[in-house]
Amino acid sequence: MTVLKFEDQRLPDLDDYAKLAEQFIPGRRAIFAIVEAALLELLAEGPAKILVVGAGGGEEILRLGQNNPQWSFVGVDTYQPMVELARRRLAETPLGARSRVETTAIDALDDTGFDAATCILTAHFVPDDGAKLAFLTAIHERMKPGAPLAIVDGVGVGGEDKTELLRRIWKRHAVCNGVAPEVAESNAENFKKVAVVSEEREEALLASAGFERLTPIFRGLAIKGWLAFA
Ligand SMILES: C[S@@+](CC[C@H](N)C(=O)[O-])C[C@H]1O[C@@H](n2cnc3c(N)ncnc32)[C@H](O)[C@@H]1O
Repeated sequence: MTVLKFEDQRLPDLDDYAKLAEQFIPGRRAIFAIVEAALLELLAEGPAKILVVGAGGGEEILRLGQNNPQWSFVGVDTYQPMVELARRRLAETPLGARSRVETTAIDALDDTGFDAATCILTAHFVPDDGAKLAFLTAIHERMKPGAPLAIVDGVGVGGEDKTELLRRIWKRHAVCNGVAPEVAESNAENFKKVAVVSEEREEALLASAGFERLTPIFRGLAIKGWLAFA
């Protein structure tokens, strides 16, 4: 089955991505606040090198890096316009000096030994035909043993009543947050087409990729977040 890529969604204007994401994603700010708290709790004091997979737009580097000058970031993303948006936003802040965002797939990143990694709203664009497992494995291979990954993804099984109900509430939530109804509708439709898998399947894939001690840290409608340890 062909799955929808991030760049195939009809987003009104990429420069508005940060604002739109905040309107659409339930608990968007809470996701970053929780991931920041988790990394502060888990990482030793002092410098840490953090891998950001799906770093396009720059949001997590901005959010995680703002109050943590001891952290540096390497971001990867496969979509050049989102990489450019991240670079532009980061260059306007002191974070520009301690972050790098590359247009590349994770398996081509020539850098390892990361103290932590994030993968926020990205793995659900990778098809579950072997590519999703290879993607998670490539993240694992670049992390230090025991290092934490914070992964946040859409979850659900297309066609199930529960998934459909969450999709309808998702659309309503976006409209309540000021999104035009037709934009909310097309975004909710997209959710049916991306490579979202069930929670159980995502957990099994993370385990197969070598991650251990999966710990749920977030749930907002059909978006779920875990900590997983390399
Ligand atoms: C919904 S956006 C999330 C961006 C960012 N993590 C955030 O939360 O603001 C998904 C991003 O994943 C990127 N992406 C999709 N498939 C990817 C892949 N296989 N490897 C790396 N990035 C990918 C897209 O280009 C896009 O920038």
